Amino acid sequence: MNYWEARRLLRQYGQEHVLRYYSGLNRKERAALLAQIGKTDFSVLALTDPAVRAEAFKRGAFEPLSAMTVEEIRAREAEFREIGLRALREEKVAAVLLAGGQGTRLGSDHPKGVYNIGKTRDLYIFECLVRNMLDVVRESGHFMPLYVMTSVINHDETVSFFEAHRYFGYDPSYVRFFIQDMAPCVSFDGKILMESRSKIAESPNGNGGWFRSMIRAGLEDDMRARGVEYVSAFAVDNVCQRINDPVFVGAVIASGMDCGGKVVRKADPNERVGVLCLEDGQPSIVEYYEMTEDMIHLKDGHGQLLYAFGVILNYLFRLSVLHDIADGKMMTHVVEKKIPCLDPDGQPVKPEKPNGYKFELLILDMIHMTRSCLPYEVVREKEFAPIKNPTGVDSVVSAQALLEKNGVVL
Ligand code: UTP
Repeated sequence: MNYWEARRLLRQYGQEHVLRYYSGLNRKERAALLAQIGKTDFSVLALTDPAVRAEAFKRGAFEPLSAMTVEEIRAREAEFREIGLRALREEKVAAVLLAGGQGTRLGSDHPKGVYNIGKTRDLYIFECLVRNMLDVVRESGHFMPLYVMTSVINHDETVSFFEAHRYFGYDPSYVRFFIQDMAPCVSFDGKILMESRSKIAESPNGNGGWFRSMIRAGLEDDMRARGVEYVSAFAVDNVCQRINDPVFVGAVIASGMDCGGKVVRKADPNERVGVLCLEDGQPSIVEYYEMTEDMIHLKDGHGQLLYAFGVILNYLFRLSVLHDIADGKMMTHVVEKKIPCLDPDGQPVKPEKPNGYKFELLILDMIHMTRSCLPYEVVREKEFAPIKNPTGVDSVVSAQALLEKNGVVL
């Protein structure tokens, strides 16, 4: 893209200020800025208008969706295990670790996975996840392809960390890293913020664009070449989750559904989790703040909550449906954020409170693009220890307590 093309494009979106410092930049900086403008998706900027946003986020009619409960799973455990192990032994099951987030609540400048949660020894978040995967590797006798999504911000550090720790015993020939896409950051009045005179402020575009980023990185082809048919995607921060455990894999395959999602029974009706349900007849996740009082307390004839199961960001998809999802139109979410940027005088500022929006695609919207999803209940005390904060709810401290309860020496 040359200067004039960039100007024309920016004018179309009312963003000419992006080139405000252009004349003072050197050749390399100019080229970098023009390339960045060429790669930026400006269509998302329309969402800063509340009316456009309200229209885009209109939800359909919600209905409860019953889960396969722990008791039902136990009753069919042997059958599911056999089906899952067969797929794992045929190396048909891959895993995608979503590790491109910035972990702002944790407050570390490093990738979340390098956080050390040990007390008397080193135990890193990435290490916990790899250990959990190695349990499955031992049981099936086969490694699973592991794809690790990073962002430009944490890619190099993530890769070096895995290398320095020899992949915590995982076979490196089964591990591939890929970098997720970025989205521009804007002020509350919809103007693109500049990180420097030659760079638009950007942030990772959420955890919902992972399969698109994989396609671009040539990794869909890699999966097909390896014979993969099922792909799980999971969060970096749940140190207790089982990843592609044979019973879960077997249950999803046996269900014949497009995907499965691990869920936990809500600790109380008002727990702040997204609930797997139906929306206009299709699987969907309703966020806790979107639920009416009636929905929150709705019960069946046995007094059980009907919107009872919260998602834990651990899904298994059939590879055959992922391509169509990636081709489809995904909702873009608008999130307030503290964005380091240049002030109107061109001076760098680090805001104390949110000063603009970032744009994110969310994996939960992928679920709504499938035809069917199996909610698969797991025991919270065994599989749900997300690390979002240093202390308090969903924190390093609460995850440490759960790990210890499950016999992990910290
Ligand atoms: P969160 O929504 O908890 O975000 O991500 P985060 O970045 O880890 O933490 P905060 O909100 O800044 O404190 C849930 C999962 O999605 C991944 C995260 O790495 C985590 O595994 N994620 C999130 C991405 O891979 N990319 C993103 O752009 C955002």
